Amino acid sequence: MEKTCTGFALGAILLHLLLLSLPNLSIAEVTVYSPDEIFSIGCGSSINSSTPDGRNWIGDSNTKLLHDSQNTVAAPALTPSTQQGPYTYARLSHSQFTYSFPVSTGPKFLRLFFRSTSYQNFDPPKAYFSVKSGPYTLLKDFNASLNADADDEPGEYLFREYCIHLEDGKRLNITFIPTTIDSYAFINGIEIVSMPSYLYYTNPDVVDSAGLPQLVGLTNPIPIENNYALETKYRLRVGDAEIPASQDTGMLRSWDVDNKYVTSQSVLSLDIDTITKLRFTKTTPNYTAPDQVYRSLRNMGPDSSKNLRFNLTWQLPIDSGFTYLLRLHFCELDPGVNKPGDLSFYIFVHDQLVEDWADVLGWSDEQKGVPVVRQYAVFIQGNQHQRAYLSLKMHPNPTSLAKDAKLNGIELFKINDSTGNLAGPNPDPLRAQTPEVPHHSSEKKSNGTTRTLFAAIAGAVSGVVLLSLIVVFFLVKRKKNVAVDDKKEGTSRGSGSSSLPTNLCRYFSIAEVRAATNNFDKLFMVGAGGFGNVYKGYIDDGATCVAIKRLKPGSQQGKQEFVNEIEMLSQLRHLNLVSLVGYCNESNEMILVYEFIDRGTLREHIYGTDNPSLSWKHRLQICIGASRGLHYLHTGAKHMIIHRDVKSTNILLDEKWVAKVSDFGLSRIGPIGSSMTHVSTQVKGSIGYLDPEYYKRQRLTEKSDVYSFGVVLLEVLSGRQPLLRTVEKQQVSLVDWAKHLYHKGSLGAIVDAKLKGQIAPQCLHRFGEVALSCLLEDGTQRPSMNDVVGVLEFVLQLQDSAVNGVVPLVVSGEDYEDSEDMFSSTHSSMQLSDHSNSTGLNTTSYGSKESDRLMIVPKNVFSEINDPKGR
Ligand SMILES: *[C@@H]1O[C@H](CO)[C@@H](O)[C@H](O)[C@H]1NC(C)=O
Ligand SMILES: *[C@@H]1O[C@H](CO)[C@@H](O)[C@H](O)[C@H]1NC(C)=O
Ligand SMILES: *[C@@H]1O[C@H](CO)[C@@H](O)[C@H](O)[C@H]1NC(C)=O
Ligand SMILES: *[C@@H]1O[C@H](CO)[C@@H](O)[C@H](O)[C@H]1NC(C)=O
Ligand SMILES: *[C@@H]1O[C@H](CO)[C@@H](O)[C@H](O)[C@H]1NC(C)=O
Ligand SMILES: *[C@@H]1O[C@H](CO)[C@@H](O)[C@H](O)[C@H]1NC(C)=O
Repeated sequence: MEKTCTGFALGAILLHLLLLSLPNLSIAEVTVYSPDEIFSIGCGSSINSSTPDGRNWIGDSNTKLLHDSQNTVAAPALTPSTQQGPYTYARLSHSQFTYSFPVSTGPKFLRLFFRSTSYQNFDPPKAYFSVKSGPYTLLKDFNASLNADADDEPGEYLFREYCIHLEDGKRLNITFIPTTIDSYAFINGIEIVSMPSYLYYTNPDVVDSAGLPQLVGLTNPIPIENNYALETKYRLRVGDAEIPASQDTGMLRSWDVDNKYVTSQSVLSLDIDTITKLRFTKTTPNYTAPDQVYRSLRNMGPDSSKNLRFNLTWQLPIDSGFTYLLRLHFCELDPGVNKPGDLSFYIFVHDQLVEDWADVLGWSDEQKGVPVVRQYAVFIQGNQHQRAYLSLKMHPNPTSLAKDAKLNGIELFKINDSTGNLAGPNPDPLRAQTPEVPHHSSEKKSNGTTRTLFAAIAGAVSGVVLLSLIVVFFLVKRKKNVAVDDKKEGTSRGSGSSSLPTNLCRYFSIAEVRAATNNFDKLFMVGAGGFGNVYKGYIDDGATCVAIKRLKPGSQQGKQEFVNEIEMLSQLRHLNLVSLVGYCNESNEMILVYEFIDRGTLREHIYGTDNPSLSWKHRLQICIGASRGLHYLHTGAKHMIIHRDVKSTNILLDEKWVAKVSDFGLSRIGPIGSSMTHVSTQVKGSIGYLDPEYYKRQRLTEKSDVYSFGVVLLEVLSGRQPLLRTVEKQQVSLVDWAKHLYHKGSLGAIVDAKLKGQIAPQCLHRFGEVALSCLLEDGTQRPSMNDVVGVLEFVLQLQDSAVNGVVPLVVSGEDYEDSEDMFSSTHSSMQLSDHSNSTGLNTTSYGSKESDRLMIVPKNVFSEINDPKGR
């Protein structure tokens, strides 16, 4: 470890010198593709302006592009725009109007920019219109304010991108048509950019069908013909920060982050290799995607046995009833993969196997650094008013040498239906009932700039041996810094520039729900509570088992929580969160439909029932899962979400004992913006788990969940309720009792009798320490959920090595006191890790006598712990 540090410091110094000696180093902006035509039109504006993304917006009043202009109004927005772009003015009308662009033959991007706000006497709710271009319907009865409210990044700004192929001599016409007499249509900006002929469209002269999109479920390839229009649904750089339009290959495409859509565990490997020059090919030319896309990725992780147990999964919300074109970007740069067969995996699209031998090196003629694009077409059954998910899953091929799967980029396009339609439904108004949240300014990732700089340097010096060595050193260093994704979630958030459908939830009719539960048959009931009853049911002709929660009708508070839960859950996807399938609110019913979680609540498996007691290791794994779920809630979504009701009955266990955090009825969006650090709110939650700070001061922060989770950790350790009125006074409150024992150094006394002999002493100590740190009075002193995940993972490692005989297991809780001293002395030199992205590391004390000890334990010091004399 020390050696590495010195090495790193030396490297840093050399790098510094290098920087000084190359004063005029600038990041080369090579435009790979220069479009023949770019129109960036500021609608309703009479001035020209340019924006930092490199666009020059021409006011439409200076052009002859607009027809029927006499019926339209050019008006400024009543409030200034917080975003750069054509958002100061709009073109609006109560009757139809058309822009007509003189463009050459060939495929074009057509981009529409909207800002849903008030213009003169045009109010946002009355903006209700369709947009057509040639034979294509781009938007149908589009309610701009509803879409803006429900957009992936709620706010005023909406963006849509289409690909249209223009035939000889035709103009590109875009027509805006108000839906009703009193509604109006509007537009803030239109952009048309030409693209390479065969980037997305199929070259009819190429007979070889190998590169054509393969139709999922069938073997025939489908060419993307010139009479198809496409709508870009997703363009994602996998595993790292977004790439703005200005850094595209010249077509002004923006590449969003993918972390909102990853639903399984995954690991990011950044900058695997920044030296190897990418070798583009005829089938994947250099304008296909920016280099950066191919230099960052997501994979499953280093543990091959674990990787064989899950699928690396993305879930992309879409509209049913359309065919989609899915493009996957790959590039092999891993020094550990050298020949075909070293790494090969399965790919499933919409749960159908499309590749049983995905081998990137094989696809690229055994050459490293060759980008590859694979395309699939998939028809999503259902009517066009339904929302669905398109899933992408990857799984190691068991015969591959390395058991892993990985991906660099995703593009997903909707293809027009046979009537030329591309439009989906408006989002459900339910989503829009919740208060509008201010637009989220995207955080800039500090490592983004260092990395770009680094790439430039690496490029500049790659010929020089000494310097290359330093670079290699850095690469090795970086490679070690692979981060489990859910530790990084939230550090890279999208900027809201893409067009994402957002109402992710399915609507059930009351008839469907009745059918699923045999008309709320008591036999189907699996739970009951103050809110109402829970039934187990089957939907989709019995194919899917769901839990159906029927809220007691009438209560106003219940209604709020109902809306709240749909709002929260429909945005969230994580292995450790229960997912919402849909809802029903017909005929005064409030019904929520969830995935069914087989084994019920965590509490049922630790006390109060006849269930066999869970082993310590199982309990630890469950705690880790639940903590990951909470960490994701706090940092993984657009806005911090505070659960507010963390308890052992809200942690469910599936058939594989995976923990799923549930019940989001009380959840709140956390503080937004840097000046706010808490949300003031009415105190809600469950007795025994309530954060005293929240209770006393009504200040809600994510640390209130950390507190409640600390209570859960103690429950798991002790196998008892947080409050027990029937025991002696000192023991009534589990938290107080545990604190008391911990300070006496005899936490062993609290351990569940069924766990006696299972817990290694150092494991107990660490576990107790993290639990009590969660329970500190002062919220700011409590660790973040990220820290808790880290420590619990470490505790599990300790436990594993104890079981494997590396360190002795104690026979009973009483032995704990004696072993504790030995334990402390071996740990006092524990160091803080350089978790690169972990801001807000909690290095403060935990109220114990060893308050000077730091608690974040890097995984790689673990080996040293097994050898106490090693230091
Ligand atoms: C991209 O590829 C084209 C054709 O192979 C080549 O002419 C051009 O120089 C390349 N551009 C860059 C920036 O590499
Ligand atoms: C805006 O730009 C267009 C196209 O470059 C030009 O024709 C026009 O004169 C400019 N108008 C103003 C007001 O600068
Ligand atoms: C559009 O949505 C808004 C809610 O954002 C609603 O108030 C309005 O009535 C809707 N307009 C139409 C024409 O449906
Ligand atoms: C485009 O619109 C113009 C003006 O409205 C019209 O003259 C022309 O026929 C239209 N062209 C196409 C291809 O629809
Ligand atoms: C991965 O996904 C496929 C397709 O849905 C499924 O058949 C398979 O069982 C999954 N594997 C695991 C380990 O979950
Ligand atoms: C898309 O629309 C065009 C024009 O209406 C039509 O010719 C084409 O067949 C449609 N594509 C599909 C896949 O249905």
